[in-house]
Amino acid sequence: MTTEKRFEDQVAIVTGAGTGIGYGIAKRLGSEGARIVVVDYDTKVGEQSASELRARGIESRFVAGDVGEEATAEQAVAEAINTWGRLDILVNNAGLGGDTGNIWELPIEEMDRIYRTNLRGVYLFCQKAIPPMLERDYGRIVNIGSIAGKEGNPRMVPYSVTKAGVLALTKSVGKELAKTGIRVNCVAPALIQTKIHDQFTPEQVQYLTDRIPMGRLGDIAEVAAMVAWLASSECSFSTGAVFDISGGRATY
Ligand SMILES: NC(=O)c1ccc[n+]([C@@H]2O[C@H](COP(=O)([O-])OP(=O)(O)OC[C@H]3O[C@@H](n4cnc5c(N)ncnc54)[C@H](O)[C@@H]3O)[C@@H](O)[C@H]2O)c1
Repeated sequence: MTTEKRFEDQVAIVTGAGTGIGYGIAKRLGSEGARIVVVDYDTKVGEQSASELRARGIESRFVAGDVGEEATAEQAVAEAINTWGRLDILVNNAGLGGDTGNIWELPIEEMDRIYRTNLRGVYLFCQKAIPPMLERDYGRIVNIGSIAGKEGNPRMVPYSVTKAGVLALTKSVGKELAKTGIRVNCVAPALIQTKIHDQFTPEQVQYLTDRIPMGRLGDIAEVAAMVAWLASSECSFSTGAVFDISGGRATY
């Protein structure tokens, strides 16, 4: 872990930070000085995550709620502003893998469920977080997409389509804000070792692993390191961009 303090005095919202990649990002930003609003709809892991961060000396608050609800985004932004008076960083990380199956086998309700978290959630959090960032003319937004959004994984249509939406949202909003002090970028990971795999069949996990030229899964810390750079003021000439972290899988 780094000893740099790139986020001293800064405040970050990290959605889905109860576990997995989100918790890893919260830990990394916090270790470099950020104060963290943890957002998760799983109250148990969310509270645990915030208290583990505090045990590491990282100031942290927990907001319980579904990212697909407008009220959750409003509450998270209010928590940052009311507690610490500012919002510097938004990491839209909460995401669901969803059921696997061919499009003609999956019910439309599954598409709607995955859309609500993976794309509507990112839209709502950007909508609510950008105005306070504009007031200070500074902000860093990092959206967690997926290589699935570039390539389209078979038997994962809701996931692939909503992640493609996250990539496009990043490009659009990045351009909308390009003349301001706010940068909006996105990461596109291949398979990273987390509990999201419980949502996939073993065959699906094998298929996704076989497509990584490095022949291994990514680590949460590797994603957190890239997100930390994108969330920092060092990321100044990149916006509306997609950053691959895929062990060589991404080819465009
Ligand atoms: N793990 C991978 O292989 C991988 C690869 C590419 C992209 N991603 C993306 O990275 C992000 C994090 O994935 P992960 O592997 O850490 O997942 P995970 O399942 O381990 O953790 C996701 C966290 O988000 C929370 N969450 C889910 N839906 C929510 C909602 N609607 N509202 C609030 N909280 C919600 C969960 O409770 C959980 O704490 C996701 O967007 C995922 O699509 C993961």
